[in-house]
Amino acid sequence: MASYSFINFIFLFLLYSLHVIATVHTIMPPAVMLCHDHERSALLHFKQSLSLNESASGDSSAYSKTESWKARGENGTDCCSWHGVECDEKTGYIIGLHLNSAFLYGILGSNSTIFTLVHLQTLNLADNDFQSSTIPHEISHLSSLSRLDLSFSGFSGPIPTKLSKLFKLAYLDLSGNYLSGIFPVDIFHLPHMLVLDVGDNENLTGVLPEFNRTSSFKELRLSFTKFSGKLPISIGNLQSLTGLRLKACNFSGPIPTSITNLTQLTLLSLSYNKFSGHLPISVGNLQSLAILNLNDCYFSGLFPTSIANLTQLTYLSLSSNNFSKSRKISWLDNLTKLTYLDLNSSNIHGDIPSSLANLTQLAYLYLDSNYFTGEIPVCLTNMTHLIELSLSNNELTGPILSSFSQLENLEVLDLSGNNLIGTVEADIFFTHKKLEFLSLSDNNITFITHHHINFTIPTLRGLQLNGCNLREIPYFLKLKNNLEFLFLHENNIHGKIPYWIWNVSDNLEAVDLSSNFLTSIEHNLTVFSNKSLEVIDIGNNMLQGNLPVPPPNTIRYIVSNNSLTGDIPPLICSGMSLKVLDLSYNNMSGPIPPCLSNSLASLSLQSNKFSGTIPQLYSEDCDLEEIDLSQNQLKGEVPRSLISCKMLQILDLSDNQIEQTFPVWLGTLPQLQVLFLHSNKFHGALGSPRSPLEFPMLRIIDVSHNSLTGVLPVEYIKIWNAMKMNSPDTELYITTNIKFKTRSSIWGNPDLQSSITLVNKGVETEYKQILNILTAIDLSSNNFTGEIPESLGTLKELELLNLSNNELTGPIPRSLANLTKLESLDLSQNKLTGVIPQQLASQLTSLEFFNVSYNLLSGHIPQGSQFGTFDNNSYVGNSGLFGFPISKNCGTVHSPPADGDEGDSDDTYEFPSGFDWMFILAGVGSGLVVGYVMGNILTDGYPWLISSIAQSFACREKKQRRAKRSIIRR
Ligand SMILES: *[C@@H]1O[C@H](CO)[C@@H](O)[C@H](O)[C@H]1NC(C)=O
Ligand SMILES: *[C@@H]1O[C@H](CO)[C@@H](O)[C@H](O)[C@H]1NC(C)=O
Ligand SMILES: *[C@@H]1O[C@H](CO)[C@@H](O)[C@H](O)[C@H]1NC(C)=O
Repeated sequence: MASYSFINFIFLFLLYSLHVIATVHTIMPPAVMLCHDHERSALLHFKQSLSLNESASGDSSAYSKTESWKARGENGTDCCSWHGVECDEKTGYIIGLHLNSAFLYGILGSNSTIFTLVHLQTLNLADNDFQSSTIPHEISHLSSLSRLDLSFSGFSGPIPTKLSKLFKLAYLDLSGNYLSGIFPVDIFHLPHMLVLDVGDNENLTGVLPEFNRTSSFKELRLSFTKFSGKLPISIGNLQSLTGLRLKACNFSGPIPTSITNLTQLTLLSLSYNKFSGHLPISVGNLQSLAILNLNDCYFSGLFPTSIANLTQLTYLSLSSNNFSKSRKISWLDNLTKLTYLDLNSSNIHGDIPSSLANLTQLAYLYLDSNYFTGEIPVCLTNMTHLIELSLSNNELTGPILSSFSQLENLEVLDLSGNNLIGTVEADIFFTHKKLEFLSLSDNNITFITHHHINFTIPTLRGLQLNGCNLREIPYFLKLKNNLEFLFLHENNIHGKIPYWIWNVSDNLEAVDLSSNFLTSIEHNLTVFSNKSLEVIDIGNNMLQGNLPVPPPNTIRYIVSNNSLTGDIPPLICSGMSLKVLDLSYNNMSGPIPPCLSNSLASLSLQSNKFSGTIPQLYSEDCDLEEIDLSQNQLKGEVPRSLISCKMLQILDLSDNQIEQTFPVWLGTLPQLQVLFLHSNKFHGALGSPRSPLEFPMLRIIDVSHNSLTGVLPVEYIKIWNAMKMNSPDTELYITTNIKFKTRSSIWGNPDLQSSITLVNKGVETEYKQILNILTAIDLSSNNFTGEIPESLGTLKELELLNLSNNELTGPIPRSLANLTKLESLDLSQNKLTGVIPQQLASQLTSLEFFNVSYNLLSGHIPQGSQFGTFDNNSYVGNSGLFGFPISKNCGTVHSPPADGDEGDSDDTYEFPSGFDWMFILAGVGSGLVVGYVMGNILTDGYPWLISSIAQSFACREKKQRRAKRSIIRR
């Protein structure tokens, strides 16, 4: 027994020694074996054609391998001993070039001498920077190549079709480049191909071929490309396949059942495609699978319970598909090796099963955005391997268990958006040594902390306690920590904002204390000192005093809906990062500093007492997408320098004292969609455009309550094309597309998105985004004369048309009946004559408000559809109108309320009850948007439309009321 072991040992030792000798041989051939002169000079030419640049390689082990390549000196003649060069022992020809991560920098031209090394079997140039070189066709001269690795090397352009001439190729890696064009399909058919990786080439297109049975593929990696089409049934022929990575391509169609023949598969990733249909029931045959990634497709039907057979699974993601409602997830119980389980947004109802606790290896568990009810099972808090746990946006009830303190490895805990109740003591979380993100927002809980406790959560980076009945800012934050994001909006925090909050950590990036009862900022802060702060939202409080200057790195600064007084401090302009500034609804006064336009994308100063003229822009670079200066005391003219704001979408200058003729030059702003100029002193005619290309995007124009004269703008009606054409996306939002990223990304790649609150006419409604509601023209309360042009009927997208209170004459054109989307039509208080066209009644089926009162109309009131719902008030003051709903005798004259011209002024008249048009006009633009949208946290667009129009909003609001706010991960 003993001697056997000894012999065994000797044998193994010999084997080992042989192995060592062999290894040494390949790296360091015997000195006698010199390389061929022409190959040596080819290498030297290759070296000279490129430079070395440390930034060219990302790998930490990178070094400049070609530095040892020298014509003279110790290794001068033997290129086989140079770094990265491998020669054939017998022939001395170069068979391998291992120049990955070698700081190579420059263009790889088609004349590169590297293509003369025709004995090459391995060419590895990965992780260098070939500065957008295209891969030269000459690579096909290297006909012995079996391994080619050009990954992450800055190549661009198409993949040469001649690559498919390299018949010996077994391993091809072109991933992580900037390749475009169509992938040469013949490469799939190379007879020895084992591993093909072209992933991470975002503009590379292609389709999968029919695979035949002789295919030897082991790995196919196409993730993050634009490959499209269906998976061919013949994919089932790739019997040796162990890995199939198709994540984030454009594939569609069903998954062929044949895929379940691939019994060697250990990894299957199909997520982020447009795959649809039911998952094959036989998916349970893929018994080697360790990783199954099917999230974010359009799979439907029930979860195939045969997944329960995949007992080797460690990673399972099925989230965000269209699976049908399911109540049981007990099929999971067998998958005891799972460490990662994502069933987010999977339409699961019922209780969270206690049996989940059998999955003792689980480290990542996401069950958010389902319909789970009942209490959080106690056993969940025994799953001590958990690192991330999200149960957010369900319908869970009951208390937050104090046994959560057992989950000592937790880094992320998100229980937000449920119906959890009771008090939660901060102490629960003080045992967590790794907790980075905690969200308990939007439940019915009361979060309490004790002052005497000397504990904190030092690892905490994000804390979200919105709507948690906080009466003060959690005291434990006062101890030094690493907080980056602090969201405490909609609580009951009264009094001063404590000074220490701005300095709780050196990394603090975002603070949201909005919608509390805060009255002042401690120390009457004039300048925030924390340099890392990028987002400050203290809107919707009761803050008094002057505006503190945000730190220079701040991107979003929201102070709206407070009681601030005083000027805008000029120092604010030192913050060149500021993108969003919202000071609306305060009592601030003084002039608007011209420097404000420097970096801003969104400026909202609505409803203050700012005075003086609107300043000219400082520079020609204007990034402004939204300007709201409405409801102030601004004088003078609209500054012409706004013409450089090519991104401007929304301009609201209403309710000021601007005095000039209509600024026709606004027509040159290519993105302008919404223009509010009402309630100012604009005068003269609207005029006509200077080019048919003006106002290409305009959908809403409100110039009401001014002193404009002349005829209605027939020439503008011709060119307002956005009001004529159905926009391709009917749910289009007006978004001010402000994108920015915070320095660090936390929680993987989350999209933390809070809702926006729109306060309109006192009705508070929550939106995810503000709708691009209307196409509207409001020219009311001016002195326009002449007839209503027939051509108005071409603005087919119009939803609101208000021409009331002018001096218009002539008939109501029949063409208005073409405005079938019209919800509100007001022609009252003019001098219109003739009949109300019957077509209006038959075609305007969306009409909710109609007013032709106080004109000189006559004839029968049209009947039908919506017209049955309008009462007397729509028609009064027209002596010649008769029929339903006029109840009085024909001939009764009603006088208009104010500027009564030809009526009996004693005749009392009441405006339609419950609808105050004047109020609505005044309310145009009084919509207030506060809040924030954060992605990555802030990767996506954040929309906020300051302005809203008239009463049709109200019903839209109801229809489009959005779901409660949510944290959307991934
Ligand atoms: C010569 O080659 C040997 C073996 O590859 C290497 O260790 C040494 O650094 C080289 N010398 C020079 C000067 O490049
Ligand atoms: C390759 O061609 C370029 C011009 O196309 C030239 O500048 C370069 O010197 C050539 N390189 C070699 C190694 O001949
Ligand atoms: C891909 O194409 C788009 C559109 O042409 C372009 O904006 C983008 O820069 C391209 N990406 C790469 C990596 O070349």
